[in-house]
Amino acid sequence: MRDIDKIYINGQFITPEGTDILQLFNPATEEKIGTVRLGNADDTRAAIAAAKRAFPAMSRTSKADRIAMLHRLSAAVRARTDDLTAAMTDEYGAPAYFTGFSVQNTASIFDVMAETVENYTFDRQAGSSAVKMLPLGVMAAITPWNSNFGFIATKLAHAIGSGSTVVIKPAEQSAIQTQILLECLHAADLPAGVLNVVNGLGPVVGAELTTHPDVASVSFTGSTAAAKIIQRAAIETMKRVVLELGGKGPTIVLDDADLDRAIPVALMSGFANSGQACVAGTRILIPLSRCDEILARLKSEAEKLKVGNPGDPDVRIGPLVNERQWQRIQSYIELGKQEGATVLTGGEGRPDGISRGWFVRPTIFTDVTNDMRIAREEIFGPVLSVITYCDDDEAIEIANDSDYGLQAYVLSADTTRALAVADRLIAGRVIINGAPHDPHAPFGGFKQSGIGREIGAYGLDEFLEPRAILVPTW
Ligand code: NAI
Ligand code: MG
Repeated sequence: MRDIDKIYINGQFITPEGTDILQLFNPATEEKIGTVRLGNADDTRAAIAAAKRAFPAMSRTSKADRIAMLHRLSAAVRARTDDLTAAMTDEYGAPAYFTGFSVQNTASIFDVMAETVENYTFDRQAGSSAVKMLPLGVMAAITPWNSNFGFIATKLAHAIGSGSTVVIKPAEQSAIQTQILLECLHAADLPAGVLNVVNGLGPVVGAELTTHPDVASVSFTGSTAAAKIIQRAAIETMKRVVLELGGKGPTIVLDDADLDRAIPVALMSGFANSGQACVAGTRILIPLSRCDEILARLKSEAEKLKVGNPGDPDVRIGPLVNERQWQRIQSYIELGKQEGATVLTGGEGRPDGISRGWFVRPTIFTDVTNDMRIAREEIFGPVLSVITYCDDDEAIEIANDSDYGLQAYVLSADTTRALAVADRLIAGRVIINGAPHDPHAPFGGFKQSGIGREIGAYGLDEFLEPRAILVPTW
């Protein structure tokens, strides 16, 4: 049992004014593992005030100052890899293969930002004017539960890189993970007020952050539905809004694909993070000419993926984060059947041999058309839709026929051909043949997958604004 009863303001762990308590659970066992005391609007205002006080000094820090802070943060995260991994396993249920990646990635986010700052040109010349890239002001960051460490680290890295200060409202159901990460971040000894973290509910803490006049920008990762509320709220005070939202990624299997390699990649692109990934390739587009062969392989390979105890290194799919998400996935599986799709593997209920925990059966639908809701809406669990196409043009047309445009996947024996297809896709990222994660690639989406980009100079640009100084030459 772990009771999280502090929030983090002005470099200190303090007791919030808010008194509401939320229960925390282990999703693999359904056991209660702790509580979190939630901050309220007053706590949020105190955090914003601390960030505002710290901003003038932070905005004037040098590149070297920021780089040193970022390196201290990455070292502090690396120093507690085991504790971070344990918290992510217990509170979120992520399989071991994924926690390993996540914790490493969290540390490397700070290192990549340090490199970005090193190479970024803050002082520029335009015509005869001197231009300086200046931070906007206090940043508010709102993050979801599906990759708590990575999202908090990303938001904080952009704040420091740009010379901003930040108030973060993490997902309330990830409070144990947030606490361990915060202990790491605290050890990095940032100037007081640069980082502030308030646990709390979206409509309470999130709403205060997105309307407060002293907040200059909002960096949000989460659902498109919440993003619309946030963007409307932010209009009144003209905040810059950066949104990283949902996806319905296409995985295009071209007709020359080597199935031994392509099928496992297609499946793990869809089932990554137990299907709770905005970047997941959840629409698998396959050529009609190889339909039977590919379906047989998808079914047999999917049924080999181990579902269960997140601590088991062989497990590829863990539980969903909570009962609400479990119910949501069940209703989507039901919906798929009602819409006329066929269950190739999986279906409703828990996997065989599992009687507790928010585990679902990895499910693949065939006979899906791209107009069905299961092909259009982000399900956020291990549920994939297979859609057939006749030729490459049709594959591209189906891939781009989506309200989303976050990440796409192309699988082919011929990289040149895959690149030609990638060039026609509307997506923030296109992954060819299971290419590994690139921590330097810009991240974000087209259409309802978001606004703006994170990572590298593209990410830094979002939180900076140029100031030009014009001097008479006579
Ligand atoms: P959500 O978008 O409601 O929550 C994400 C964050 O936004 C949390 O910190 C939440 O407290 C905050 N929030 C919620 N309402 C807010 C408001 N009115 N003002 C300010 N902040 C607010 O996501 P939720 O409800 O947990 O998950 C529902 C669905 O959203 C999922 O099934 C999935 O489809 C999608 N989702 C997508 C994510 C992504 O990475 N693209 C991440 C999480 C959820
Ligand atoms: Mg919500």
